[in-house]
Amino acid sequence: MSYYFKTEKYDKDFLSENMMGPNPMLIVEELTQNVTLKKGMRVLDLGCGKGLSSIFLAEKFGVQVFAVDLWVSATDNLKRFKQMEIDDLIIPIHSDALKLPFADGYFDAVISVDAYHYFGNNDHYFDEKLKPILKKGAIVALAFPGMKYEVHDAVPVEMMPYWEEEALEMWHSIDWWKPKFEKSLSDFHIKEMQCFDKAWNDWLSTENPYAIEDRAMINADGGRYMNIIGLIGKLI
Ligand SMILES: C[S@@+](CC[C@H](N)C(=O)[O-])C[C@H]1O[C@@H](n2cnc3c(N)ncnc32)[C@H](O)[C@@H]1O
Repeated sequence: MSYYFKTEKYDKDFLSENMMGPNPMLIVEELTQNVTLKKGMRVLDLGCGKGLSSIFLAEKFGVQVFAVDLWVSATDNLKRFKQMEIDDLIIPIHSDALKLPFADGYFDAVISVDAYHYFGNNDHYFDEKLKPILKKGAIVALAFPGMKYEVHDAVPVEMMPYWEEEALEMWHSIDWWKPKFEKSLSDFHIKEMQCFDKAWNDWLSTENPYAIEDRAMINADGGRYMNIIGLIGKLI
């Protein structure tokens, strides 16, 4: 696939400085390939980190993005959105995904890149916290790190040094995630994303200390266990 964001505008340094994991620009681009986002829609970017996916959504689709994150402050994100001259379309918000400060039925879409597994890895988050603030028919598009199959009962020996228990609680297979959404979404699709190698390579080639740590893990994995899962659907 060709990538919209391989442009001079988003120079390598801006992306490297603001990535917090596998390149979110590539992930959000692939994730939104088959969804119809239109100018003026209200979109929740849940766990937006430093807002790269929010910038993509606002620029590419002209949607109004509510960029919500817990670890990154709204003030820092506002600076970035101003730097990219897109602050008229993106509202930075510092909030916990478990206590979202929005009215019921508010959003036309929720997008989340590399964040949902932190808070949505259970049977109640989607129904209790997210569904109420979405309009009927709202687009749901989520991408998060996962596993090709459930490794939890027999963790491969070579991966033991790299996968902490906390990570294993969040990283699961498509079959594990599917039942959490399929009853609530129409036009539901869940699959492994194609951008895994490129998105990870972009992150691993930064000098971010977390990326440097991740290099050994991805090397040991060798494409055998980990993936990035993408799901889309419309709220029934
Ligand atoms: C690996 S970073 C990814 C950030 C960004 N989406 C990206 O791809 O660059 C995970 C993000 O999830 C967010 N997150 C984790 N738990 C959260 C929670 N309970 N509420 C809101 N955001 C949360 C963190 O603040 C962090 O920015």
